[in-house]
Amino acid sequence: MSTEPLIRTENLTKVYGRGPTAVRALDGVSLEVYPGEFLAVMGPSGCGKSTLLNLLGALDRPTEGQVWVQGEDLARLKDVDRFRAQTVGFVFQLHNLLPTLTALENVEIPMQGLGMGRGPRRERARELLARVGLADRMDHLPSQLSGGQRQRVAIARALANDPALILADEPTGSLDSQSGEELLALFEDLNRAHGTTILVVTHDRRVAQVTRRILRMRDGRMVDDHRVTDPLEEDLRMLAHSRLGQAVLQGKPVSSRVLLPEERAVFQRVLRRALGLPEEGALAEPELDEQSARG
Ligand SMILES: Nc1ncnc2c1ncn2[C@@H]1O[C@H](COP(=O)(O)OP(=O)(O)O)[C@@H](O)[C@H]1O
Ligand SMILES: [Mg+2]
Repeated sequence: MSTEPLIRTENLTKVYGRGPTAVRALDGVSLEVYPGEFLAVMGPSGCGKSTLLNLLGALDRPTEGQVWVQGEDLARLKDVDRFRAQTVGFVFQLHNLLPTLTALENVEIPMQGLGMGRGPRRERARELLARVGLADRMDHLPSQLSGGQRQRVAIARALANDPALILADEPTGSLDSQSGEELLALFEDLNRAHGTTILVVTHDRRVAQVTRRILRMRDGRMVDDHRVTDPLEEDLRMLAHSRLGQAVLQGKPVSSRVLLPEERAVFQRVLRRALGLPEEGALAEPELDEQSARG
């Protein structure tokens, strides 16, 4: 494994708006991602996951802080369009395919304007669609494909220029569970067979089984960053970061219908262990902040 990070961020901050209504969507995130990693970013709605992805992919600019991708400071990019087309592949929840173009034509789009001839472009698009299992759907329009198939076209398109990095924002969000699983398997295969670095924002607990590192965000901050070891530990961590888990950990009131007092102590001990916290004593900020327990 290379020792140079593929992505590095330093104090990355994004504030939307000004004055009293300003929203600190991202609040001082420092992060390193290495080539070949497969990561999940999790956290409640509104915690800043999409904002982070947009900044990493140069779709937006930070208010403060910096991002380097492959050693290059994104604030100093000479050709942002080229960076977006060549270095990063984006996959979004709403696959934003162009409705009047076929699957094949949609996959060709990112290759246009990069000096590639029409023939090789078409050839490459065919190859990519075959790789995502759509060899027999090349000439279909998006409206003639299922949600899962559309999402696979979006992935083929994201891979068009063989990007070092795939950024996927809730790619399984609109899919049924089987299509979701197929999509994750496809990511896993890409990551293993091609070494593509994949960062996927998700609410889906199944990703814990395929990614090897999970980042958890809350209120614009990174509150957990760990390597996945076993699925049971992942379930425990998920529980520990849930609203109920946070309330229990902080000794906040939890309805007796949810948890009997004698259960609380046991639950708390287990959650503390999941997070590697000492068995007793006050919990440190910002790992567990008040707001999320209240919210
Ligand atoms: N363009 C925008 N203008 C103002 N506020 C925004 C904008 N985009 C996101 N936000 C706010 O920033 C916070 C983080 O949003 P987002 O990154 O989309 O969260 P997530 O993807 O985790 O659900 C939210 O409070 C959201 O309302
Ligand atoms: Mg989002």
